[in-house]
Amino acid sequence: MKRILVTGGLGFIGSETTIELIKNGYEPVVVDNLFNSKSAVLDRIEELTKVRPAFYQVDCCDEKALEKVFGENEIDAVIHFAGYKAVAESVEKPLEYYRNNLLSSIVVLRLMKRHDVHGIIFSSSATVYGVPSRLPLVETDPVQEATNPYGETKIMIERIIEDEAKADPDFKGILLRYFNPIGAHPSGLLGEDPNGIPNNLMPYVSQVAIGRLNHLNVNGDDYPTPDGTGVRDYIHVVDLARGHVAALKRLETLKGVDVYNLGTGRGTSVLEVVKAFEKATGVKIPYVIAPRRPGDVASNYADCSKAERELHWRAVLTVEDACRDAYNFQKMNPEGIK
Ligand code: UD1
Repeated sequence: MKRILVTGGLGFIGSETTIELIKNGYEPVVVDNLFNSKSAVLDRIEELTKVRPAFYQVDCCDEKALEKVFGENEIDAVIHFAGYKAVAESVEKPLEYYRNNLLSSIVVLRLMKRHDVHGIIFSSSATVYGVPSRLPLVETDPVQEATNPYGETKIMIERIIEDEAKADPDFKGILLRYFNPIGAHPSGLLGEDPNGIPNNLMPYVSQVAIGRLNHLNVNGDDYPTPDGTGVRDYIHVVDLARGHVAALKRLETLKGVDVYNLGTGRGTSVLEVVKAFEKATGVKIPYVIAPRRPGDVASNYADCSKAERELHWRAVLTVEDACRDAYNFQKMNPEGIK
């Protein structure tokens, strides 16, 4: 298993994974429609690895265009990152989210079947667990109704992959449930580059740090957590990318579908993130306490022992490492990647 189709391979997690694949001797074939990423990311991947991966500017919903990619490259397995991912936007535009995320996945799976490609690794999310009834979350915990269409697409795509594996004994899939990916490549060349005002905590804090945003709004300080602010399992994107390489190795011997949490196993509160950021960078982050964000849970963190046991992988970088790298990326790219 060598040549890996990486959909969404120029995005935040996809680009970091493309780098790890090259470093580990794989040949990534990158597909991205540049909806939420920049073509300059390809140059930066080349700068960092001295390899320019094959790249197609293709939308995965476009079956004809993607068929050509499968036809021109002998693909051994797929890592499917491509998808819309903004929670609030998905509430406003459910049809866009269902169309894009479901159709692109179905097209990828149909083409895999047509071209005898048997293995897929899918970017799922901890959001499939819904409101947790106990922590840490283990893979056998129930998948529950999502609080938004984005989360619902993740649940549905997991289900589609499971059903396909039931129908086709040669087909296999790994569902990776990411907790909260943060950080950036330590070079500062690659990182999270959201359009407009960031929705997520770390890019927001980084933009406050360089003065692009005035202060952080801490959404709620009355949660049943040690300091009252929301607790999440923040995982450095480089650790997460390495998790995909570990999953590819597992795919070789796998039968059917398996699921892994990718997190650190540790919860960190919003105020602890602020403190870690200040410690790692020496920059003060002004904040105000703001109302809770609708749909947010108090606490969410993973049990990652299954990934450790079966993928021989665990996160090694800290929240402070991630803060340092995110800040470095933001400083080097104050207006995002050009
Ligand atoms: C969200 C999504 C998750 C998705 C992930 C990555 C939900 C409910 N959440 O996770 O599915 O996979 O993004 O895109 O589906 N916070 C602030 N101020 C801010 C921003 C965030 O205090 O300006 C707090 C939040 O209340 C939360 C924590 O920071 O406690 C993390 O928020 P965020 O980075 O947006 O991630 P999640 O909501 O956990």
